[in-house]
Amino acid sequence: HGLLGEVWDDEMSSSMLGSRLRKVVQNYQSMNKYGVEFSGPGGVSSRPKLSGPKLLCQLKDNIEVATLTPDLEPFSSLPWAAQLPTKPLTSDLGPYRSCAVVSSAGSLRYSGLGKEIDSHDAVLRFNAAPTTGYEKDVGSKTTIRLINSQVMASDDHRFLSSSLYSSGALVAWDPAPFSADLTQWYNRTDYPIFTQYQRYRRLHPMQPFYILHPRFEWQVWQRIQDNMAEPIQKNPPSSGLLGTVLMMSMCEVVHVYEFLPSRRKTELCHYYQRFYDAACTLGAYHPLLYEKNLVKRMNQGPDRDIYTHGRVTLPGFGQLNC
Ligand code: C5P
Repeated sequence: HGLLGEVWDDEMSSSMLGSRLRKVVQNYQSMNKYGVEFSGPGGVSSRPKLSGPKLLCQLKDNIEVATLTPDLEPFSSLPWAAQLPTKPLTSDLGPYRSCAVVSSAGSLRYSGLGKEIDSHDAVLRFNAAPTTGYEKDVGSKTTIRLINSQVMASDDHRFLSSSLYSSGALVAWDPAPFSADLTQWYNRTDYPIFTQYQRYRRLHPMQPFYILHPRFEWQVWQRIQDNMAEPIQKNPPSSGLLGTVLMMSMCEVVHVYEFLPSRRKTELCHYYQRFYDAACTLGAYHPLLYEKNLVKRMNQGPDRDIYTHGRVTLPGFGQLNC
């Protein structure tokens, strides 16, 4: 790239990590907590590396953003099923023209991207990422907040009472068995997503609040694995990629900020916390390294946008002619 400097290499693999992180990743790669059934990587040896447009069509054709509705077993026979939205997320929200996905990366700090982020029709944020006090760098609009069950359950995040979660629609998820069997999941969630959901709904009944169907996270996982040459962690993708795919199904164009690190790349984990760990950017539990390879291949913007703004441009699924 000459003067441009380095941007994400779409062939990143765990062997390129430092020894500490490499061991953590390799440890997760050999575990199989969710019972993933998969016969090894397809790999570059058994199939050609797909072009960006082919990859985009593969995602469009194989992933459906589904959310829980009251008619689904086992919820249909439970008294609180009526708290679930009657219609799925994608029929209630959108479609939007232009969307922003704001990763929570430390490299957003001092980015000055706030105005640009707020200029989109819809903005997706993650977990406990605040806007107050960080408007210059991350903007202030929140259309959708994607939260994991750990954030919902942890005492530090004060999920039930904090005003952080009160703007826009909420979408929650929890790592489920690979089978995506709802009854199995209901009886064995990673964190108590359903009790916290019921409590939140009682306190904030007017705010739209959806729960992702676990099929979605594993469909996304399968697309990552099928397009990598080595076995990836057998854990669900990070919120960052789940949110990106969610927005690709609702928007004409999606801009993702600081998922692929810019020239501001840093070991600062989140823009809103003084905690440093390269695992936040490179992954440990989540197959984040491979998620970034996939996003780099699908990017339709110039490398310069990644370098200067940490910005990736992805087409919405509705724009693709597959
Ligand atoms: O940490 P958290 O999951 O709340 O962050 C939201 C998403 O932003 C992550 O799931 C990940 O995809 C992305 N992220 C990143 N690099 C970081 C921090 C977060 O790519 N340093």
